[in-house]
Amino acid sequence: MKRTKIVDLLKREDYGSQVCVKGWVRTKRGSKAVNFIALNDGSTINNVQVVADVEKFDPEMMKLITTGACLSVEGQMVQSIGSGQAVEIQATDIQVLGECPADYPMQKKGQSFEYMRQHAHMRLRTNTFGAVMRIRHNMAMAIHTYFHEHGYFYFHTPLITASDCEGAGNMFQVTTKNLYDLKKDEQGKIIYDDDFFGQQTSLTVSGQLEGELGATALGAIYTFGPTFRAENSNTPRHLAEFWMIEPEVAFLDQEELMDLEEDFIKFCVRWALDNCKDDLAFLNKMIDNGLIERLEGVLKETFVRLPYTKGIEILQEAIKNGRKFEFPCNWGDDLASEHERYLVEEHFKKPVIMTDYPRAFKSFYMKQNEQSADGGSVGYQGAIAPGPTMQGTDVLFPQIGEIIGGSVREADYNKLMGEIERRKMDMTHLWWYLDTRKYGSCPHAGFGLGFERLILFVTGMQNIRDVIPFPRTPKNAEF
Ligand code: 4AD
Ligand code: MG
Repeated sequence: MKRTKIVDLLKREDYGSQVCVKGWVRTKRGSKAVNFIALNDGSTINNVQVVADVEKFDPEMMKLITTGACLSVEGQMVQSIGSGQAVEIQATDIQVLGECPADYPMQKKGQSFEYMRQHAHMRLRTNTFGAVMRIRHNMAMAIHTYFHEHGYFYFHTPLITASDCEGAGNMFQVTTKNLYDLKKDEQGKIIYDDDFFGQQTSLTVSGQLEGELGATALGAIYTFGPTFRAENSNTPRHLAEFWMIEPEVAFLDQEELMDLEEDFIKFCVRWALDNCKDDLAFLNKMIDNGLIERLEGVLKETFVRLPYTKGIEILQEAIKNGRKFEFPCNWGDDLASEHERYLVEEHFKKPVIMTDYPRAFKSFYMKQNEQSADGGSVGYQGAIAPGPTMQGTDVLFPQIGEIIGGSVREADYNKLMGEIERRKMDMTHLWWYLDTRKYGSCPHAGFGLGFERLILFVTGMQNIRDVIPFPRTPKNAEF
């Protein structure tokens, strides 16, 4: 008999029909006469209740129906009174496809997330991880839908690269060389001539630079793929391997970039509310009671557009009024997540798009704001900053901090070269990037959204290790 997915079965009303479901036992309870088996097949957070009259089945088989066991059940679909669902199955045939001994690691309810991380190969079978993974899938669909409907082309940038987009130097190397027998030149530098690519290569930290090649030819592109960062950040917000979405758009200015960032995130959040109702209701009940309210809240708010310099003024004012922060925040300092969260969660109580950052801690490719004679600069809506600034536009979110990092790109060849020289950057491997500014240069802008940070926000989960199936973090590459 053809199997029906539980998600489809629970929507049916043709009571009396014979059906077949397959899935894993969540719980079994009941009396000597009848057993109630809650069965889940991963298609939905909801279980279907299987009712088995004990006398009709082999007692040895019935003993094998334990939490985690895999069953195939045939029976009659009947209207349910007690199971919390409209439908249940009166079993006529049960087969145990896979037994589940008592040392099954997901046996007990309410295990800690840390315990589940150590059993990440099995945690997917729990309600929480099932819900998170279904939402993760739905958010990927939301992202492709958004860009497809807005005329962006899905553009595939390489994962192996010879350049460092963010210039932060935290890249994983890719080599086929024998690491025990490295040839070095007279200065002690490793010779890569005989390596697979004939030069030093790494896993990409961002597809942006190649994305710019796409945008300046196709008009609007987006990437959606894995990125890798060998930063030793053991925090609930950092992964060594994470997925990033990077749209890049020709002829987009700063205001339009911010419009895009806001519209895009809201589309994704709305998609979750519309398409992941059962899973969100579960997470709202079990993980975070404020979740759905927070998601709906974001849709109602207009994001604040705040120059960095004004943000610093607000933080300084808070410090004057007795607010304590662990890290300093004077003009020119990179904001710590405590500062970002103060602005978003306490001061404005809504998402903030921060603009016009000091160039000291932003990347070389960002558009430089007009400098004033006194060494300052003029940015968004004429706001004055005391030093040189760039048109970065990051989105800061409640609970998360930075969810998007983006900018208008410097399209002027001479200004870009000036910045590269100021930073003493080696552009040997980026000659092709400079050609975009040499040949038909055009104003353009883009951003990167950390996929797992979006999933954190949408699920209410607290740790980024729990929104990706198999997290990669310092000292952890298990599974
Ligand atoms: O701010 P970032 O470093 O920006 C870039 O890489 C640009 N090239 C993007 C662009 O303009 N096309 O990273 C972008 C986003 C961050 O805002 C954050 O959401 C996420 O990527 N991110 C991480 N997520 C998880 N783990 C990490 N280690 C992350 N580092 C950045
Ligand atoms: Mg950033």
